[in-house]
Amino acid sequence: MSLALCAHHDLSRDNTLGLPCRAERFVAPAGRDELREALDLVQREGWPLTLLGGGSNLILPSWLPGLVVRPALRDWWLEEGEGGCVHVHAEAAVVWHELVMALAARGLWGTENLALIPGHCGAAPIQNIGAYGVELSDVIEAVHLVHLDDGREAILAPQACAFGYRDSIFKGALEGRVVITRLVLRLSRIPRPRLGYGDLAGRVGASPSALEVAEAVCAIRREKLPDPAVLGNAGSFFKNPLVAADLAGKLVDAHPTMPHFPQPDGRVKLAAGWLIDQCGLKGWRQGHFGVHERQALVLVHFGGGSALELLDFAGRVADSVRERFGVTLAREPRLAAPARIFPALT
Ligand code: EPU
Repeated sequence: MSLALCAHHDLSRDNTLGLPCRAERFVAPAGRDELREALDLVQREGWPLTLLGGGSNLILPSWLPGLVVRPALRDWWLEEGEGGCVHVHAEAAVVWHELVMALAARGLWGTENLALIPGHCGAAPIQNIGAYGVELSDVIEAVHLVHLDDGREAILAPQACAFGYRDSIFKGALEGRVVITRLVLRLSRIPRPRLGYGDLAGRVGASPSALEVAEAVCAIRREKLPDPAVLGNAGSFFKNPLVAADLAGKLVDAHPTMPHFPQPDGRVKLAAGWLIDQCGLKGWRQGHFGVHERQALVLVHFGGGSALELLDFAGRVADSVRERFGVTLAREPRLAAPARIFPALT
């Protein structure tokens, strides 16, 4: 078998921010054998490797040296469990939103609040995608992966994934060291709507179907969030900051309307969108980038900009929040960073 490598491949349409980017070489392995072949090739040639999914939470530089691999494993299937439980196996390149809608349409509960989140299944555990009171970690049962250094396949249980708010081991100890090939999710045939977030309950009837909840979530997201197919963006550009209780207390005294959410560990989560909004930056535009006019947490790309310009723009937004509130915002999308894979020492 020989891989179909593309040279100087244009990735501008493969990242939802629409940043201009070319890969020195690009391949989209369609099966596990092809994936393995691509990883072997990278090791043999000593090329830097960049893994790409749906490109919805990624900031791409203008040039990616070596090889960019975007797995194209697109199967998903169900496995009946006990007590109304259904195990969902979804390969890395299954489009997350399409899977969510297909599961909701089958009356399976668990992922409906996560409708319309862009991206592929393989990337979902990296930032532990979350919305409307649900996180991927609430439904994940296992993550199948391949270690890049020695090709070893492994299955991680959720406890081994160190899931946190927009965080996991795939952003930490395993960053750049594994390729995620499949997720296993645990859904339920027994209705269990979670409607506690915002005005979700007001959007559906008393006992909604999973599909009705998913459609309500889609409607809310469409009202607030820009469609990446129309206006480049990567969803929330900053995480909601977790601050010490005494700082949160001082801020609430000074700004009684400030949204704040005490956490089990004693810290308090603040709404980054509110903080940016209060700085008067909603709708602010400079050069090719702007703060979205309906959700200040989302930075948008009007076209013609670069990753460096975006990072500079984001820095200015974060500086304003730090100066006004003394709160530091952390970036949410990851920077694509090509890594060299060295064979494991035996
Ligand atoms: N707010 C403002 N102005 C704004 C934006 C928000 O005042 O411009 C206020 C809202 O009124 C609300 C609070 O901030 O009181 C929180 O806003 P919202 O409910 O819109 O949620 P968020 O905290 O801004 C998070 C996630 C979103 C997710 C929503 C719904 C993060 C970083 N973002 O946003 O996730 O869809 O909750 O669950 O946690 C994403 O990660 O890309 C994303 C869109």
